[in-house]
Amino acid sequence: MWYGGILALILIIFSSGVYIYFRNSLQKSIDAKIKSIGDVLASSMTDTHNQGVFGNFERYLENVLGRKPKGKIIQIIDASGKIGAKMNDIETGTVPVKFTTLERAWKGEVVYETLEDMNPKLRLVTIPIFENKRVNGIVQVGSSMADFDETMTKLLIIMIIGIPTSLSITIAVGYFMARKALKPVDQIRRAAVKISSNNLDERIDIRGRRDELSRLSETFNAMISRLKDAFQRVNQFSNDVSHELKTPLTILKGETEVVLRKERESGEYKRLLVSNLEEIDRMSRIIDDLLLLSKADTKDITLNLESVSLRDLVADVCMNMKIFADNQGVNLMVDELADVRFTGDELKLRRMFLNILENGIKYTPQGGTVTVSSHASNGHVSVNVKDDGVGISEDHIKYIFDRFYRADRSRKRESGSGLGLSISKWIAEIHKGTIEVVSRPAHGSQFSIKLPI
Ligand SMILES: Nc1ncnc2c1ncn2[C@@H]1O[C@H](COP(=O)(O)OP(=O)(O)OP(=O)(O)O)[C@@H](O)[C@H]1O
Ligand SMILES: [Mg+2]
Repeated sequence: MWYGGILALILIIFSSGVYIYFRNSLQKSIDAKIKSIGDVLASSMTDTHNQGVFGNFERYLENVLGRKPKGKIIQIIDASGKIGAKMNDIETGTVPVKFTTLERAWKGEVVYETLEDMNPKLRLVTIPIFENKRVNGIVQVGSSMADFDETMTKLLIIMIIGIPTSLSITIAVGYFMARKALKPVDQIRRAAVKISSNNLDERIDIRGRRDELSRLSETFNAMISRLKDAFQRVNQFSNDVSHELKTPLTILKGETEVVLRKERESGEYKRLLVSNLEEIDRMSRIIDDLLLLSKADTKDITLNLESVSLRDLVADVCMNMKIFADNQGVNLMVDELADVRFTGDELKLRRMFLNILENGIKYTPQGGTVTVSSHASNGHVSVNVKDDGVGISEDHIKYIFDRFYRADRSRKRESGSGLGLSISKWIAEIHKGTIEVVSRPAHGSQFSIKLPI
């Protein structure tokens, strides 16, 4: 409607301009024509001082103008105010001579007027004839405005028909095109209405289009795909969480029920409580890890940045893990450690190294070796934890950093919940670092933590 309204306004202004301009220039050309005839007559009359003028006026006109003027009225008014000679080539009655016009002409003025109530309308010029600088007579030349009126009427009709027609065609075509162009928007809208968390398969049909809206649709489709992934991950995650917490709870419940079935000695209650405490510890560890990860997701974590000696930190972690390694019958070797300082959150870095080292020891059978080394090169320090344990197969390796992912689920529960590596990866990332892994099943794995110095 705006488009149509503005177009209509433009068309009307433009056409009125054309109409007015056309009308004026047509009138000017009529004026110029009758004025030139009048001028010729006025001057010829003073020149010749010709009395024969009134005798055969038409002949005289032919002589002066070269040919007989068509569609004109010419009359001469003499000094006494009478119409001295007259020629009328228009089917019209006597031309009324207005007193005011004559008065002005007698004063030496050239007067133009349009006689509207004549049929046909008349354009009349009244020119004074000068003789010795005195007005001695008047020439009136009139021209029929019939052609003029006809032309103007035709123009008006063309405009009256043309404007609404072109306006409606333009609006119709514009409406059609806008509808066609905006159709995908409606599709997007309908797709958006249909989408909910359990219906993320809806996609917008782009089908070979290449324009802004198809790009919008592509973006929209990509967004739905990402949402779908995200929802799937959330679902998977809640499944895993429930499962992970359900197992210790089942054990807690089962053991407690068995013990409560009859009176026991106090030693047995104590054993139960110790065993329960283990499960509770396990659950609270999982919940702590989850809390950390969910804070990490919402970026709701502040880092305690400080300058850390990586060598001291890694050596300390190895010391801590030594007892665990001894218990597992695994050799923990510390190779050369690069002496670099690094700005980071010491507690988190410690946790990351502990996780990786713990994995190395945990997934290496008795008698195996875990070697820790680190070296610095072009702006990076890399800490490598290499073991000759069970290794990780090709199928599993891309998932081990996922939450709750464990390559070997059948392994006993105590081995862990599968959150260690996702936390470690997150810690490496908030320090702008990476964790890479190379592994061969049955030959061992190497985890390399790369941090920018
Ligand atoms: N050094 C390694 N050798 C062989 N497999 C490994 C090694 N490190 C990790 N994995 C595999 O990757 C999986 C994920 O490791 P992650 O540390 O995230 O979990 P977890 O050790 O099972 O449990 P958590 O660390 O939470 O106690 C492990 O379950 C294991 O299958
Ligand atoms: Mg682990």
